[in-house]
Amino acid sequence: MHKTYYIETYGCQMNVADSELIAGLLQQEGYRETGDIQASDAIFVNTCSVREHAEERVHSRLGTFKSIKENNPNVIIGVLGCMAQSLKHDLLENKPYIDIVLGPDSYRRLPALLNRQRKSAGIVDTHLSRFEVYDDLFPSRGEGINAWVSIMRGCDKFCTFCIVPFTRGRERSRSVDSIVAEVRQVVADGFVEVTLLGQNVNSYSHEGYGFARLLTAVAAVPGLKRIRYTSPHPQDMTEDLLYVMAEHDNICNSIHLPLQAGADRILKRMNRTYTREHFMNLVDRIRTILPAVGLTTDIIVGFPGETDREFEQTLGVMEYVKFDSAFTFKYSPRKGTKAAEYQDQVHPQKSQDRLEQLIKLQKQHTLIRNRQVVGKVQTVLVEKESKRSSASWAGRTDSNKWVIFEKGAARIKDFVSVEIRDARGVSLHGNIIGEKRK
Ligand code: SAH
Ligand code: SF4
Ligand code: F3S
Repeated sequence: MHKTYYIETYGCQMNVADSELIAGLLQQEGYRETGDIQASDAIFVNTCSVREHAEERVHSRLGTFKSIKENNPNVIIGVLGCMAQSLKHDLLENKPYIDIVLGPDSYRRLPALLNRQRKSAGIVDTHLSRFEVYDDLFPSRGEGINAWVSIMRGCDKFCTFCIVPFTRGRERSRSVDSIVAEVRQVVADGFVEVTLLGQNVNSYSHEGYGFARLLTAVAAVPGLKRIRYTSPHPQDMTEDLLYVMAEHDNICNSIHLPLQAGADRILKRMNRTYTREHFMNLVDRIRTILPAVGLTTDIIVGFPGETDREFEQTLGVMEYVKFDSAFTFKYSPRKGTKAAEYQDQVHPQKSQDRLEQLIKLQKQHTLIRNRQVVGKVQTVLVEKESKRSSASWAGRTDSNKWVIFEKGAARIKDFVSVEIRDARGVSLHGNIIGEKRK
């Protein structure tokens, strides 16, 4: 009988990619994945610390794991990922039912730890490495359209609100060769799209290769229909990169460009290293070189000291840019970060009001942007069945908008030309007017 594992993932796409890496390691050891948590020999949770809410969700899941362990003392419980650091002390003091705690740079140890005779105390490894990039491991991805490919790890930006540089350590990049080899492999495995991942993808740097050159190399992989990447930092957006995007059909015409805030004083306090003017000029440059580009963003409200006037400046940048969509967050103080020490924290109700205002504005902008493509023909990659109707497909445009359309003769992974008829809510609706082979 094979041993089985169950894994649950929280947080960003890097964590999704890491869970695939962990799955690969476990499968090499003869473990098989199960969806049945009660029957599994090992239960893992890959955790996120980015906001308090993310940590709370994991804490509540741990309660469930604890009761599973009470019924079945042989099950191994492992806590992985960004919360490892914060859970280390909690675990040693209060959570004896957790067997393993591994931080993002320690996953190689997992097979050895599973094989080792269980000790009475938990095993903790939250050491962050300056070198670990998991170059030689084979993530287990299952099937799909898109494969996540991590190109770098860690972050050196130290935005004052952000825990990531502490949970993931210093920035380090994989070699171009190993990334290209992995992309070739995922294409051979049937994936047609890759998303290159890093906390700061555009500060990628390996032996003289920057992100623009890496993208060029990846774009040349035969059979790869689409390339996306996330997240770039506004400070590291180069014209080179924009031209590489413009020159290659298979690099998607969309950029996730985190704004965070629109007032210079707040940006400075956040250590974002750009001004509102720099950001708006950058958007102009992007739209000159990449017309019809899809632009999305992340915005935080209620950062310590943010005044009403400064919040309005964030709305002002949004008005200027009119993002296609935005992820919006209430500031959440993270222990150990600089901003958590600031004395002038914004009242939660105030942050809530600002958040609601911001969401309302973004909805209007999303609708404006979506209406701009009504009547146009878009190249859409068929990705899955629509949730609403089994007679329709859902797929994305180059600019990263979801489109719903009747299936016709199209199959999953086909490129189709869709004439957009209607923009309602966040999705577009259209009709196939032709199949497109690339
Ligand atoms: N490296 C990525 C973002 C990683 S975290 C980047 O720089 O774009 C994803 C988003 O979470 C951030 O862009 C930010 O908007 C939000 N975020 C990070 N820390 C936060 C905090 N303490 N409170 C609220 N939102 C936060
Ligand atoms: Fe966090 Fe800033 Fe690094 Fe993004 S760039 S991971 S927000 S420190
Ligand atoms: Fe969360 Fe860690 Fe990603 S804190 S957002 S899982 S890098």
